[in-house]
Amino acid sequence: MTKSAARSRITAPSLLQQKRDGTPIVMVTAYDATFARLIDSCDVDMVLVGDSLGMVMQGHQHTLEVTLEHMVYHTRCVTRVTKSVHVVADLPFMSYQVNAEDGIRAAGRLVQEGGAAAVKLEGGESRVETVRRIAEAGIPVMGHLGLTPQSVHAFGGFRAQARDSATADRLFRDALALQHAGAYAVVLEGIPASLAERVTAELEIPTIGIGAGVGCDGQVLVMQDLLGLDDQFQPRFVKRYAQLAQTVREAVGSYAAEVRTRQFPAEQHAFDVDLESGRASSHVKPAR
Ligand code: KIV
Repeated sequence: MTKSAARSRITAPSLLQQKRDGTPIVMVTAYDATFARLIDSCDVDMVLVGDSLGMVMQGHQHTLEVTLEHMVYHTRCVTRVTKSVHVVADLPFMSYQVNAEDGIRAAGRLVQEGGAAAVKLEGGESRVETVRRIAEAGIPVMGHLGLTPQSVHAFGGFRAQARDSATADRLFRDALALQHAGAYAVVLEGIPASLAERVTAELEIPTIGIGAGVGCDGQVLVMQDLLGLDDQFQPRFVKRYAQLAQTVREAVGSYAAEVRTRQFPAEQHAFDVDLESGRASSHVKPAR
């Protein structure tokens, strides 16, 4: 039996229990079935189908172009092949900012059509009504505070947040407001480690950090970043656990060279038949 088959499904209540037990929560992003299947076979608790797919998959400069249709599509790709991880889908820009009703309907689509177990949205006190109504609809909601990428223009770029006492206090209040409204977890992105630690100590719900230090209840990284698939992107908060950009270049380079020198395909990658009898030649390997 594989590890993923043996492991029971991670749920919103089991993540709350992990916080109470002091067991760190592991989260990574995935946007497609290939990575989702791999992650599901690892000892990972949560997958985030993040709107970072706008940058990672679609090549945009930010997340603002991502639509609800894109999110439903990618969430479905992930949930179709995962069995044990808890899948959270991002509510994209403008799917919840106008009013709470929009947010509930969008969250409902991510669960009903995408198969997500929870949704994530950005913002604090201003989102309290939306968080409350989505949670009341039976959908676990994760908050996201600090460097919230959907506010990139308001911030003047992807800049660390809560760097003075007034904005740090506001973030602290935002975190409490989200918890009070019914959020089951909150992502803390791009904020000072001491503030993240203070928020984590105060909240009963888990905090998931990215660029927020080791004092959070869990950590999230974009899968492509931790694998080193983009060697042009190396922000301070990312640790590369592999250098796959170079591995991919070497593999594709070898393939190209072998095609040009007619080394690929070799005999074992092809098949032939005796056209008279219809029988396969002896060297034929079965097709996949
Ligand atoms: O969209 C995303 O990937 C995120 C994480 C970076 C937290 O929101």
